[in-house]
Amino acid sequence: MPDLDSLISEVSGNGSLVEREVQGRDGRWYSLRMRPYKTAENKIDGVLMALMDIDVMKRGLDQARLSLDDAVTARDLSANLLDMSGALIVILDPAGRIIAFNHASQERSGYSFREVEGRTFWDFLLPPEEVDEAKSVFASILRGAGPASTYERTWIGKDGSRRVIASSSIGRCGADGAVRQIISTGIDITPRKLAQDALRRSENQLRRLTANLLIAQEDERKRVARELHDDLNQRMAMLANEVATLEQTPPGSTRLLRKQLRSLRARVDQLSDDLRRTAHRLHPSVLEHFGLVAAVESHCSDFMKLHRIQLKLAHRSVPESIPFDVSLCLYRVTQECLNNVAKHSGARKVMVAIRGNKDGILLSVTDNGTGFDPGLLADQSGLGIIGIRERVRLVDGIFSINSQPGHGTQIDVRVPLTTRMDP
Ligand SMILES: Nc1ncnc2c1ncn2[C@@H]1O[C@H](COP(=O)(O)OP(=O)(O)O)[C@@H](O)[C@H]1O
Ligand SMILES: [Mg+2]
Repeated sequence: MPDLDSLISEVSGNGSLVEREVQGRDGRWYSLRMRPYKTAENKIDGVLMALMDIDVMKRGLDQARLSLDDAVTARDLSANLLDMSGALIVILDPAGRIIAFNHASQERSGYSFREVEGRTFWDFLLPPEEVDEAKSVFASILRGAGPASTYERTWIGKDGSRRVIASSSIGRCGADGAVRQIISTGIDITPRKLAQDALRRSENQLRRLTANLLIAQEDERKRVARELHDDLNQRMAMLANEVATLEQTPPGSTRLLRKQLRSLRARVDQLSDDLRRTAHRLHPSVLEHFGLVAAVESHCSDFMKLHRIQLKLAHRSVPESIPFDVSLCLYRVTQECLNNVAKHSGARKVMVAIRGNKDGILLSVTDNGTGFDPGLLADQSGLGIIGIRERVRLVDGIFSINSQPGHGTQIDVRVPLTTRMDP
């Protein structure tokens, strides 16, 4: 209690009113009011004092003030948390208008909060084809459905770029149970999506390649079977017939006999050549027995017999022993390049060069034909160049095409020898 005596003399002395909040010894709060008691003659004759217990009211008020402070602090804190979060957080009112748009959202979309505040998010942030679906998810959250499971949304940024966002939303209810705010959190999964797309593309390419390889293998078998049966077998049968005729009705003179035998021998030689070529195409055994240079020489001489293209083969410092997978790779690359020269280039000259040096082996096939734009090699183009690339990659080599329309084509392959472990 304050000093009562001085208060009383203050009130009775100048007739003023005093009103104070005072705390009793028990710690409770009271409102103390004092005013002068005046007689009928308007003379001050004492002091009226009233004490009212305001303890409950006062504590309630203090509590309310503290909660208000807490609320302000909590609001600042959640605003900070919103902005610190790496996740994209958007808070909407029940009409879908943006009331919060955190820092991460601003950064990803390119919009500042001021630019989006109060705008309905599906009106500008989503592509038209996703708006209906977004509205229906939004409506189900408004109806009080539990948190929607994660869904993917596309955000269109201020600069028009698209980002894929994995989002999830919940509704926050007021005291009456109605949804007041919709809080939506999201993560930008664009990089993951891009990687998935690239993977899907290369899987498709691989699938196509496998399918084409199987078809190519079947075609090759059909071709070899036809060649063996329709061509070589027929020619053998004809030869056998002619030998039988010769046996039954030998010509009268030795000169005539010799002539017929000579013709027969030439055809047997030709047949044997063709048989060798067919076998060779299936598996180049000369590669195993005589090495890369001999196998390429043999293939080049066959090529010149079949095509009216002038071919020059040059080789220098090619090691005697090369791992079989490397020599097979270089041999098949030479075959495919020469195939392409014959099939596509219209060239009159082609040069095959094989060189060994301290790092490995360099093979190049150069023609003076039409050339082409390697950048336009479409996904659905042939298997030849894809096959070359894969073969070279398998032996840690480097493959490059140097070609442009009207300027011929040069294909280079470099395969290292030093770092390889196998013999
Ligand atoms: N030496 C070349 N000269 C001109 N065009 C070529 C040459 N090599 C390849 N090409 C072009 O590249 C394409 C792809 O070749 P490739 O993958 O071997 O498939 P394919 O030979 O089955 O068409 C060819 O269709 C052709 O247009
Ligand atoms: Mg080809």
